[in-house]
Amino acid sequence: MAQIVGCVNTSHVPSIGKALAHGLQQDPYWAPFFNGFHPIHAWLDEVKPDVAVVFYNDHGLNFFLDKMPTFAIGAGKQYVNGDEGWGAPNTPPFTGEEELSWKLVNHLVDHDFDLTICQDMMVDHAFALPLKLLFPNRDCPVTVVPISLNTVLYPFPSARRCAALGRNVGEAIRAWDSDKRVLVVGTGGLSHQLEGERAGHLNPEFDRQFMDSLTQQDPNWLTQFSSEDIIEQVGTAGLEIIMWIAARNTLQGPVREVSRNYHVPISNTAAGTQAYAPL
Ligand code: DHB
Ligand code: FE
Repeated sequence: MAQIVGCVNTSHVPSIGKALAHGLQQDPYWAPFFNGFHPIHAWLDEVKPDVAVVFYNDHGLNFFLDKMPTFAIGAGKQYVNGDEGWGAPNTPPFTGEEELSWKLVNHLVDHDFDLTICQDMMVDHAFALPLKLLFPNRDCPVTVVPISLNTVLYPFPSARRCAALGRNVGEAIRAWDSDKRVLVVGTGGLSHQLEGERAGHLNPEFDRQFMDSLTQQDPNWLTQFSSEDIIEQVGTAGLEIIMWIAARNTLQGPVREVSRNYHVPISNTAAGTQAYAPL
């Protein structure tokens, strides 16, 4: 059966793409963020994933305000990274792990999750940048399954629902008749708000408590809060932390924190990166 080797959660600020394109990783502004990936690179060299299942939020590239699925999953042969106008070069297309996509689709629909199934799906910075951060020196070496959660248009899925989605994704991966090694990735957050009266809002205390909670055997401290409560704490765009709770819930039982990094700010975002391995 397939094995989940671990989970990585990370912020996905678009300007990371420009920093990568211009080789600014050791620039004083960027080094505290990029250096947080060194222990993760060493760990990935050990656990050698074949496949990445990525929870992320589309920001208007593939889904726009006229059609906004609460949950969507890719079941395509490949996923093209589209131009978002931020000036960074697009990555080459990502190769889909179609067999796992359909395994997930069938398992999730069977377990009362009504996802939008996309055989054609473009992926934005929230998907492409984290994979570039995880595998910086080569074309993406893993096949992928994208899972998009709506955080841009009301109403939003609750943290509780995202945790349940993550648990079911974990079950389906473990039930996949394959010897592939699967890494689960969650992207977005931590606290940030990009527009409105509270633009620039950050909340390091809440972010730290959230990161602590994800290292616990029961990682679901966040599920006590409604979407509105989470937005109040971490800002409108900070709601992206529901990706972290979905991804972390694919792991069962106690976990080891492989690494943690927290740096404020990158652009307008409190940037966090955290990795966990099953014990
Ligand atoms: C920023 C952060 C994001 O998560 C995003 O999707 C866009 C912009 C920022 O901090 O600039
Ligand atoms: Fe974002």
